[in-house]
Amino acid sequence: MIADDTPVLLTDKKCEHLVAVSDDEFHTGYGTIKLCKLREKEFGDTISTHLNHEYIIQRPRAPDFFKHCKRTGVPLMPKDIGIILAYTGLGGGDSVLDAGTGSGILAIYLGNVAKRVITYEKNEEFVRVARKNIETAGMKNVEVMHGDIIPEMANLNEKFDVITLDMMDADQVVPHVRAVLNPGGYLVTYSPFFEQTKKIRTAIDHGKFSSVRTIECMEREIKFERRGTRPSTRVGHTGFITIARL
Ligand SMILES: C[S@@+](CC[C@H](N)C(=O)[O-])C[C@H]1O[C@@H](n2cnc3c(N)ncnc32)[C@H](O)[C@@H]1O
Repeated sequence: MIADDTPVLLTDKKCEHLVAVSDDEFHTGYGTIKLCKLREKEFGDTISTHLNHEYIIQRPRAPDFFKHCKRTGVPLMPKDIGIILAYTGLGGGDSVLDAGTGSGILAIYLGNVAKRVITYEKNEEFVRVARKNIETAGMKNVEVMHGDIIPEMANLNEKFDVITLDMMDADQVVPHVRAVLNPGGYLVTYSPFFEQTKKIRTAIDHGKFSSVRTIECMEREIKFERRGTRPSTRVGHTGFITIARL
């Protein structure tokens, strides 16, 4: 039995759809599925369209939300999110402050691991989309706040274990971090450009953080083609990740 509103991934191994259990009908290229029938199913079962095309019912995981959630801008890539999770050692007891929310993709991955995530987004329409994405992902521990994190930092009256900043002007947030980051906690920033990263490093140096590092993570997919096997020729830069500890 899959409960109402539970997110479900339907896959025929070639294409996939992210849906939720409801009374709606879902139209695929191979016919229509009555989503209420999912209530009688378990993950791992199959469900057929009215044209008898079969889909496997899977429980979606964070990379599925990365692929299928609505985007308002460029989300953080899983390779960069992996670096953040690994180098901060984010754990189940941690609380996280995140800005800007964007589509909420990083917030979903953080919420998958941490106890609680509060994420700030200044654009009202992006807040709406992110809240929907987070609801679709079934996350109850991720709260999207509408507001500009720079003035909002002064209004926060709790401390966090990890702070993640993926936004322009992150350097302007850095001077306020000490007041809301637990001792031994981590600040992580993501910045696509050298110029932005240099400003962040300068702000971090003024803030007297320790263990400061800026890294770039290059991901090379290996392509297996008829002509031969080689790394993908796509250029791989996304952004620089700066990690600092209090
Ligand atoms: C690149 S997106 C973040 C993507 C997000 N990390 C994700 O994985 O989906 C940057 C977001 O920061 C927001 N932003 C920029 N400055 C901000 C500020 N001062 N306070 C809150 N949000 C801000 C922008 O509106 C934008 O949506």
